[in-house]
Amino acid sequence: MAILVCGGAGYIGSHMVAHLLEQGKEVVTLDNFCTGHREAIVGGKVYEGDLRDKAILNKTFTENNIEAVIDFAAYSLVGESMSDPLKYFNNNISGTISLLEAMKDHGVKYIVFSSTAATYGEPENIPIIEDDKTFPTNAYGESKLCVEKILKWCDSAYGIKYTALRYFNAAGAHESGNIGEAHNTETHLIPLILQVPLNKREKIMIYGDDYNTEDGTCIRDYIHVSDLASAHLLAVERLMRGEESRIYNLGNGKGFSVKEVVEVARKVTEEDIKAEISERRPGDPSVLIASSDKAIKELNWKPKFNSLETIIGSAWKWHSTHPNGYNK
Ligand code: UFG
Repeated sequence: MAILVCGGAGYIGSHMVAHLLEQGKEVVTLDNFCTGHREAIVGGKVYEGDLRDKAILNKTFTENNIEAVIDFAAYSLVGESMSDPLKYFNNNISGTISLLEAMKDHGVKYIVFSSTAATYGEPENIPIIEDDKTFPTNAYGESKLCVEKILKWCDSAYGIKYTALRYFNAAGAHESGNIGEAHNTETHLIPLILQVPLNKREKIMIYGDDYNTEDGTCIRDYIHVSDLASAHLLAVERLMRGEESRIYNLGNGKGFSVKEVVEVARKVTEEDIKAEISERRPGDPSVLIASSDKAIKELNWKPKFNSLETIIGSAWKWHSTHPNGYNK
């Protein structure tokens, strides 16, 4: 019995594949490699193709005894989703619909879906709980929320049980230092900060210091990518025990400001990282912190890498040894 990881060549997907293999599971990866990296897949069987292509899905499900699916395959750049929403709705929604159709055809009953804190939009409470209102402020978050709704109807009609995991700020890299974050267009704070000591960028721009927070910069909840992976496997196992479909937040429940993240990165790298305040980035909520109590309780999930220093330390181990990502 195998677990199919769609988007297993991406940042979070590749850590998922590694975690499943470490836990002795049989893994099949399906990825179209448009943003993922072949070198990021540390083992298991690999198929190249797009979720919108029925033929590759049928081949993957026919040639393997797939018991459950974990779906990471999506575009995830918030800014791009605002300038080209149809690109996001087409890939992120149509891709998962096609995957669900194949699951239905092949009698596969369990799916863990990669969702996001962006489904909430501007939060009404801090920390955010799963029952808070969802009002996405970008098309990326909207595409993920649409899929969550589609999953609900597939559960009631076809008995496909799902878990949607809403991640806060995924960060860090595998303990081995061999896999990590490598986006062609990097927009995330921690890898951009680490480009400064790698001499790939002169300084980090801090997007706004006039937010209603203690030091004026935005606060986020950073969660280690391997802790995200462990939650996915726990979610698969929970569904296999016959439990009902659920939505869970995944974060550490602790917020750090942009200035605090820069400070911790200076300590970890022992470099004086230059930072400069610039304009706010449109659409950034001031504070996003998760309550992950539900996941901790119901999945029995225990994040291992819960200090920001450890998270940034693991990212530094990867970036300092792979300054060009997976490119030689
Ligand atoms: N930031 C900077 N300078 C930079 C980059 C980011 O100051 O060069 C700030 C941002 O303004 C934000 C914080 O650092 O306040 C974190 O920004 P990221 O881009 O790393 O992450 P986001 O919080 O914007 O995005 C994350 C996920 C998205 C998800 C979103 C939900 O990466 O996938 O949370 O709100 F959609």
